[in-house]
Amino acid sequence: MNDEKSFIEIQFPVSKVSKESYKERKAGSSQVLTGLGKWWGRKPLTLVRATILGLLLPATSSPAKDREIFLKLLMMDDVGLKARKDKNISIKELYNFSNEEIRIKYFKLDGETVKYKTGISLSQKSELQDLVFDNMSYDDKLRYCSRIEDYAKLTQEDWHEINNHLNTGADSFQSLIKELGIKKFGNVPSIGDSFSGGGSIPFEAARMGLETFASDLNPLAGLLTWSSLNILNMTDKQVEELKIFQEKVFDEVTKQIDLWGLEFNDRGWRAKYYLYCNEVVCPECACKVPLLSNRVISHKQKVISELEFNEKLHNFNIKISSNVSNDKLKEAATSGTVKNNKLICPNCFQETSIASLRKDKKDTDGTTLYGLRKWSNDDIVSGETDVFHERLYCIRYIEKNEEKSWEEVIKKPAPATDSSFGKVHYSAPAEKELEMERKILSLVEEKFFKWQEEGFLPNSMIEEGDKTDEPIRTRGWAYWHHLFNPRQLLINGLFLEKINEFARTKEEKIIGLLGFNKCLDRMSRLTMWHSHRDEGEATFSNQALNPLFLYSSRSLSTLYNSWILNIKNSPFKQDSSVVLDDASNVKFKADLWITDPPYADAVSYHELSEYFLVWNKRILKDAFPNWYSDSKRIMAVKGVGETFNQRMIEVYKNLANNMSENGLQVVMFTHQDVRVWAELSLILWSAGLQVSAAWNISTETESGGLKEGNYVKGTVLLVLRKQTSEETAYLDELYPDIEEEVKYQINSMRNLDDKEEPNFSDADYLLAAYAASLKILTSYKKIEDIDVQYELSKPRTSNEESPIVKIIQEAVKIAYDYLIPSEFDNFIWKTLSPEERFYLKGLELEKNNIYQLAAYQELARGFGVSDYKDVLQNTKANNVRLRTASEFAMKSLNDNSKFGSSLLRNILVALYLSVKENDAAKGQAWLRKEYDDYWNLRTKIMEILSYIETLGRIENIGNWSKDAHAALLLKERIDNDGV
Ligand SMILES: C[S@@+](CC[C@H](N)C(=O)[O-])C[C@H]1O[C@@H](n2cnc3c(N)ncnc32)[C@H](O)[C@@H]1O
Ligand SMILES: [Zn+2]
Repeated sequence: MNDEKSFIEIQFPVSKVSKESYKERKAGSSQVLTGLGKWWGRKPLTLVRATILGLLLPATSSPAKDREIFLKLLMMDDVGLKARKDKNISIKELYNFSNEEIRIKYFKLDGETVKYKTGISLSQKSELQDLVFDNMSYDDKLRYCSRIEDYAKLTQEDWHEINNHLNTGADSFQSLIKELGIKKFGNVPSIGDSFSGGGSIPFEAARMGLETFASDLNPLAGLLTWSSLNILNMTDKQVEELKIFQEKVFDEVTKQIDLWGLEFNDRGWRAKYYLYCNEVVCPECACKVPLLSNRVISHKQKVISELEFNEKLHNFNIKISSNVSNDKLKEAATSGTVKNNKLICPNCFQETSIASLRKDKKDTDGTTLYGLRKWSNDDIVSGETDVFHERLYCIRYIEKNEEKSWEEVIKKPAPATDSSFGKVHYSAPAEKELEMERKILSLVEEKFFKWQEEGFLPNSMIEEGDKTDEPIRTRGWAYWHHLFNPRQLLINGLFLEKINEFARTKEEKIIGLLGFNKCLDRMSRLTMWHSHRDEGEATFSNQALNPLFLYSSRSLSTLYNSWILNIKNSPFKQDSSVVLDDASNVKFKADLWITDPPYADAVSYHELSEYFLVWNKRILKDAFPNWYSDSKRIMAVKGVGETFNQRMIEVYKNLANNMSENGLQVVMFTHQDVRVWAELSLILWSAGLQVSAAWNISTETESGGLKEGNYVKGTVLLVLRKQTSEETAYLDELYPDIEEEVKYQINSMRNLDDKEEPNFSDADYLLAAYAASLKILTSYKKIEDIDVQYELSKPRTSNEESPIVKIIQEAVKIAYDYLIPSEFDNFIWKTLSPEERFYLKGLELEKNNIYQLAAYQELARGFGVSDYKDVLQNTKANNVRLRTASEFAMKSLNDNSKFGSSLLRNILVALYLSVKENDAAKGQAWLRKEYDDYWNLRTKIMEILSYIETLGRIENIGNWSKDAHAALLLKERIDNDGV
């Protein structure tokens, strides 16, 4: 056993790992684990792989070589990227990426079209692929590469180099992991994750060859984790056998549905989707009105619904019209009968709020009393006197092409569209279809109690909660089965019945459940109709349970692709166990723990998962006799505040006790403000752990932007060791140590960084400052003037300043004084306002190809700048950049903002004028006029101009070229002024 530091305690290639993780994220449903089923907030496997490797690799005395080997192992170095290249660069791109010399040699232009010169051979073309690829930036290269988790083949030569550096004799990833473990811990390394969720951490760990322990409180998480470990490693033959089982069940369900004749109309067309809407009685005119927020059914086929008043019945006929004019389509998109939670009656044109339809009332102290009747267990549809009724109003049919069989139509491969198999029709239900609706209801009524007893239909009430209140309150749905209409209850129940009937092995039961859950996610009253894509959404297309007035219901023939799992198997040997337990109770001694707790995480796992669990009980019990099947809401770690903090301490005390003496932990959490950091560090410190490093991996996605700050995410990896010191200290004594640690940390990161392709941005240096301060703080057993219990009992919103927050802020200040742009004069830098520094540092980000919103947020936080929207030209995630002088023009000059009246803002105006009038004298005149003390400010102005001028020398910031050139001319002019 040895105590030497791990790679991740010294360095981490945050930029590359961020890019690779982002690539994985963007792959959507083709990610390895997502195919198994829904879980919220899965961590990218790339991130996990890099973290584990970082924990196991030693930090040697040659950090540059350490990094080289680390990247090699992840196939993230030049050689690895080349090996991962699996797409051809198009001729147009080849041309764009080439310099003049190469262009002349290889290409000719035919108008706008790029062509190869005559005589360019195949081997020359492939040489050119290599040449261009080699010169691309990391981001560009990635577009042509497979993901790192898809590909992990290292050559003999690679292993030779790896072994040389690490003093090992490995020939595979697994054997290397084993050797590293033995060196560090004396055994094959073991790893635990007590919040395993969708299974990312244990799955990747097991694939890499670690002994793996996984647990979660939630049985659905348990099911998914178990499946990742035991199904994704199957051989093709085993997977094939499971597929045969799945086909069998699907065919059996189809047989039954067809026997009942439930999905065909009179003309022999097969239903794909049923659209339902709610109806209410207008309190003003007493007619029955369908609630249609939007009357467009299909944009592609220009299908709309039209309301015709039925004098006799005092309600509306709903006519379905196809191929309508664009005007009609547009009108239908904007003229619904519900808008902003109000009913707009198409008969009397009166508006009534939905809340008043529900008869919600306020009691004397202002709390709302909900007016709807709560449904009872045996209510399958609404009762006569209920407010909301449901009505089938449109069906999407397919009329198959003669030469196709129904089997081909139903089992068409995933991306194929209906129209390649037949003709799609939308029509209103005729008498036959309404008859089928009644038949379905009577079938469900007939089976209802028996199926509930046998566990093929849920029988539990919905427990109130953050997310589960909504259906109870807005529909009176008190039992889980109320979230499903009779057609859905019948099909879902039938699936469970057939799985139960035909599954022989544990694996078959489990694959059955996974497929069932994927269907279930798409088979409820909460699945929206998507009129642009002509398909139904999933229930959990968002993280809530919102009942809808208009929803789509799939037919069985639309479920095939959800039911048949897309298993991305690749056999690997593994040694793992999966347990259901509260994290504060698990017992497994691990060398490493990597955990991703539901911390500052807004997902209500315990509530959302119940949607599935109430259906899963029976088969789950059969497959895992030792498991419970409820969500154990009471024990779930959730929310914020004192009890939550105490629960977290219990958990991490337990993990610290269950970790080898020189073991390491990584806690993942979402990067947020200093207070969250302070709180989490106190929790971990009280649990007996000490901070050893922290890295931020940015995982921004394209949705969001500045307004929705929540989407801008970074995952922090907080690296921890056991706290073993007996020393105590006073706060004041810590500051000099913190200052030293911050500077040391920044220096060592700077020394390591690659000038060509920088790994660290300012945001990373700042984070290093957070970590440095926490490292010092948590290295003591106790700080005399910090009352940990008291601090953890304060609400997060408390105005009282926490000493930990103060320490972190102090460290950030030290870091900021240290992070002056390298070309900038130190003394002048200190005279700039925070807003000016923010802008200039922002330019530095751009210089370094950093376009993440998070980086700007971090800068703003560090400089204490609160309003910076106006200085940004683009606020889209991963595309964020500042306004150039020309883009700014005269905007927000001398508005009330601090930036608007700053010297820098005026310098930008001067540049704008110089460019616009093509005359630097115009810019100079502006500055002279605006500043009485122009003469004293000259040096400062010139310093700023020189800085801006350097932007002109960088290729990738084309936006700046004119303005940067103007900066050069203006500077020369000012320099010569007065002589
Ligand atoms: C952020 S998620 C983990 C996601 C996981 N890393 C992944 O990649 O899918 C947090 C998990 O903590 C689990 N959890 C909540 N309270 C728990 C407790 N007291 N003990 C164990 N697990 C708990 C939730 O069920 C959820 O799966
Ligand atoms: Zn009315």
